[in-house]
Amino acid sequence: MNTHHQGLLFSDALMSEIKNRFHYVDHDIEGRERLFFDNAGGSFRLKAATEAFVRIDSLPDCPERIHALSLFLQKVQAEGTDDVRTILNARGGSVYASLTASGAMFDMVRAVTENVPGTNMVTSILEHPSSFDAMSLYAQRTGKELRVAKSNPVTGGIDVDEIVGQVDQNTCLLSVMYASNISGAKMDIEAIVKRARAIKPDLYILVDAVQHAPHGLIDLQKTPVDGINIAPYKFFGCRGSGLAWLSDRAATLPHHKLAGKKADFWDLGSSAPWQFAVVTEIVNYVCWLGSQFVRSTNRRELFVCGIDRIERHERALLARLLNGGESVAGLRTLPQVKVFLDYEDLSKRDLILAIGFDHLGHTDAVREYESRGVIVYERVASSLYSKRMLDSFSLEGAIRVSPLHCNSVADVDHFLQITREISEAFAPAAFGPAA
Ligand SMILES: Cc1ncc(COP(=O)(O)O)c(C=O)c1O
Repeated sequence: MNTHHQGLLFSDALMSEIKNRFHYVDHDIEGRERLFFDNAGGSFRLKAATEAFVRIDSLPDCPERIHALSLFLQKVQAEGTDDVRTILNARGGSVYASLTASGAMFDMVRAVTENVPGTNMVTSILEHPSSFDAMSLYAQRTGKELRVAKSNPVTGGIDVDEIVGQVDQNTCLLSVMYASNISGAKMDIEAIVKRARAIKPDLYILVDAVQHAPHGLIDLQKTPVDGINIAPYKFFGCRGSGLAWLSDRAATLPHHKLAGKKADFWDLGSSAPWQFAVVTEIVNYVCWLGSQFVRSTNRRELFVCGIDRIERHERALLARLLNGGESVAGLRTLPQVKVFLDYEDLSKRDLILAIGFDHLGHTDAVREYESRGVIVYERVASSLYSKRMLDSFSLEGAIRVSPLHCNSVADVDHFLQITREISEAFAPAAFGPAA
């Protein structure tokens, strides 16, 4: 149990070691000072991950040969496969390396929908289009009813009662995300899985963990689902890779595959060994972080400790963003700045905030931030990636602020100062500079 409700920061010495392990935390490619607070759109990369990508992809060898380097590549793949299981605490099942998390989700939804009996499918209004659109498409193709759980504008998430209330004996598939990439709200997946399976014990459940995986613990022994996906490029790794794990029963459902491959094999064509090398570097890093706090030779134990410390540090950054410090006002008190979907219990949130200015549009604000060396992103209702979720909260848009654990309190304070500067620059004349 995490007892630090307001989080716990890394020491200064560890913070600087952490920053050193990532590319471009404090400056951009030209060496200009920059704060990158758009990690929900693609996170800082570990130096070790990009090095592994280049090292492994430089080899011309095919992993399906008998030569020494081919055997080495097979080992890289086997270790990366084990490390996906380490991240998820998964036993058995199949690991599927796809090109994107969206691709893996569409494939999993298709396999379940086309092969598991049932007349309805259940999902939530907050899902990313990668799962929502897959659910809609296959519900339509197979003539099943799509049931969509509403969001809760107070928590910014989906209530357990609301989504479980849609499940019945005829539900073919339940698909729900671990955390919202708009509000940062974490869903109570453990309760959702338990209660949904109390209604239908053999219910198939898929989870989109793309947003949550880099920010907190996932434990499939406590939340036994049938499929779950992550995106390494949002998890300190590289783009061009989406990874999924499928339970034994889901893995053997009919799916696109070469006929000669085993029934539970999902990679279609030659998967790239670098994808696996990058996962291993991600897990190596989180374990290294864990080893700063706990002595263990067990990789999962070290990973659990590392991700828990990431979560605590990020919660402390979130508290600082919202409440500020002695010398800097937080977003909750800055005049003419609004925090949307603000929620008191930060243990229910990943490190993402949705904010807005009273007198400045979201897209213009993003440009103002950039001209001051800060990268954030606007989520507006005209975007296919945001409309459904924003509408569900009756929001027209927001500026999404998503730092990462490799940011420091000084980075957050710098962001708060710039936010104050922007709010003052766009204050109506009569209002005067913000107090
Ligand atoms: C919550 C969530 N799920 C799924 C995805 C899809 O990831 P990809 O674009 O790699 O397919 C994203 C990407 O933004 C996401 O934020």
